[in-house]
Amino acid sequence: MAPAVLSPAPPSAPHPISADSKATQCPFVTEKTESGGPVLDPNWTVDTSAAVLSDDPKQIYAEYEYMREHCPVAWTSAHGGYWILTKYEDIKACAGDGVTFISSVCAIVPSDPRGIRRPPLKFDGAAHTPYRKALDRTLNPRRLARLEPALRGHAKRELAPLLEAGQGDICQRFGARFSAAVESEWLGLDEEAGRLLAETVGPFVQSWRGGEWEFVLRASQAFYKVAEGVMEDRRTNPRDPEEDPASSLLLERDSEGKELDPYHLIGAIRQALIVAMVAPSILMGAIVEHLAADKALQNQLRSDPSLIPAAIEEFVRLYTPYRGFARTATHEVTISGTVVPPETPITMTYAAANRDGRQFPDPETFMLGRENITSHLGFGRGRHRCAGVNLARMMLRDWSIVEEGREFAKLPEVGLIGCKVRFVV
Ligand code: HEM
Repeated sequence: MAPAVLSPAPPSAPHPISADSKATQCPFVTEKTESGGPVLDPNWTVDTSAAVLSDDPKQIYAEYEYMREHCPVAWTSAHGGYWILTKYEDIKACAGDGVTFISSVCAIVPSDPRGIRRPPLKFDGAAHTPYRKALDRTLNPRRLARLEPALRGHAKRELAPLLEAGQGDICQRFGARFSAAVESEWLGLDEEAGRLLAETVGPFVQSWRGGEWEFVLRASQAFYKVAEGVMEDRRTNPRDPEEDPASSLLLERDSEGKELDPYHLIGAIRQALIVAMVAPSILMGAIVEHLAADKALQNQLRSDPSLIPAAIEEFVRLYTPYRGFARTATHEVTISGTVVPPETPITMTYAAANRDGRQFPDPETFMLGRENITSHLGFGRGRHRCAGVNLARMMLRDWSIVEEGREFAKLPEVGLIGCKVRFVV
């Protein structure tokens, strides 16, 4: 395996991102990639690439493969300008170094135009710690085990209408509502807040995709109200901080021993709400679509359910729902030979890393029991590695299919947000 690829450059070196330097990184080429990848249009540029513009996973993955070989550190002027990393080793090194690569400047591309910074994702170092500690306290497998019977009940209830109708949309009808129910259980929401989540999350994802910003804003405000409500309630009615995220957050203090800012406390719950509800339903669509086409795997998992956790990890690798998150460097760095200036967003494309053939041989193939599957980056790495990984695994664990209609997620996610299915026997 290639050695670590990040090296600091002299801090005084100038670092304009000139058009020339970009062009040398990404020449227009028409030859095939070494692994027989796509033949590209002679006018191909990163700015007009599927990796930047398309929502179609097949095209996106084909271009990641090309970029990995020809311009693994690519610059695009889309969304205000950002770097795209596509090599596993580069992305792993970047995600693992939370001192050089910070998330407080830009953690997601495209970023929220309102510039709102919510913890823990958009906080660094000591400022990140108390929020993360509070969430982790409630998200370890031992603490979460108590939720399992309730989660199974929600899965059955939400799947029932699809089974009865013999068809339905697994992402929108099942995934979104089930994820909302899981969130409600974990956060201890009351019935009304739970219903609001269940009814808002699907349309929220769809309207984000369609660019219906008015609805996105309204939904965002509704989520914010839910977060505000739960924080307010726990101030007067604290619950067991080992189980209840809001109560756990209220216990934490900053590095000077002071109470955490009430605005950021609400922001932390609001952020957990969104990250926890979007990825699972995209992944469920991918899993269902894959299993529909692979009856042998369906049968194998049915006859030996102990294989399901390993299958879930391989599904997360192959169909990584969050395309990637962003960081900015605190000083100039050189990544795979490209000089990257500070303060320019660098997207760590986890979806590309997870299909890098140098790390995962035959990367496009689903392989149950890959030896190095635990090294996938679908849940991230380092300080900001997914806080909800145990809850996500639990919700994905417990639940035949013919595909009829598909819709894809937009940046920063990749995958299905609509997958209509027909149940067959
Ligand atoms: C299939 C499901 C999920 C996937 C693939 C996923 C993936 C990720 C990834 C890749 C990150 C890293 C972000 C970065 O590098 O900047 C992340 C962060 C995070 N995830 Fe998840 N996630 C999932 C479900 C959940 C759930 C159910 C929760 C519920 C609590 C959750 C809570 C969080 C939080 C709070 C963070 C921010 C952590 C921090 O900044 O310290 N996620 N997730």
